[in-house]
Amino acid sequence: SKRHPIIAGNWKMNKNVREAQDYAGELLARVGEVTDVDVVVCAPFTALNALKDDLEESVIHIGAQDLFWGSAGAFTGEISAEMLVDIACTYVIVGHSERREILHETDEEIAKKVKAALKAGLTPILCVGENLAHREEGRALAMVRGQVEKDLMDLPPAELKRVVIAYEPLWAIGTGKTASSQDAQDMCSAIRSTLAGIAGAVADEVNILYGGSVKADNIAELMTQPDIDGALVGGASLDAEGFAQLIENAR
Ligand code: G3H
Repeated sequence: SKRHPIIAGNWKMNKNVREAQDYAGELLARVGEVTDVDVVVCAPFTALNALKDDLEESVIHIGAQDLFWGSAGAFTGEISAEMLVDIACTYVIVGHSERREILHETDEEIAKKVKAALKAGLTPILCVGENLAHREEGRALAMVRGQVEKDLMDLPPAELKRVVIAYEPLWAIGTGKTASSQDAQDMCSAIRSTLAGIAGAVADEVNILYGGSVKADNIAELMTQPDIDGALVGGASLDAEGFAQLIENAR
């Protein structure tokens, strides 16, 4: 494959500073030498600066879970891409389904966030995925294609190839129900075709991750699929030892 696999943990709204530091120490001890998989830890804003001290010089990448599209100014409560770069973040999750659903983020907003991340030099992990109703009604593919097209609107191919896409079917998130590796592969392949339609040959260079109840014991099979280049892991990333085992099983 032309693509270097990525295993990204998403802590969501979990861990205080002390817990983040303990985790970083333990993860570093276990996967601090791993270079055949890019390991990313996406932490809450409040823990990022502490992770910088522990991980900045290591092979483990630091990611945020969201950002705002403006660089600076009167945007109370928001965090810019430049601020994330300043504290050694190299990745940022954009458009996670929890933000789309609970905070009503729109594709227009998400597209602006992707652009802001790229402009600052961050790697956006753009999340897309259908809900159970879409899947049951046979609209999953159209739904996900629409998200990819709207969220990456107007990006030149040279920029688009720096985006990482995470396919996360909503019905598989936190439910213990993983998509079958074949269903996950089918959608990741359809996403790659969509990217090829938008940007041509660079689609082959885009990392596409699967997310949704990924665990140490199902990652290996997912990784054998040709269009799945890694995973975005929620619950199973919260324990450093468990996450290290998952990373080991992905190699
Ligand atoms: O960002 C991660 C996904 O929402 C998956 O979460 O692994 O807990 O199902 P999960």
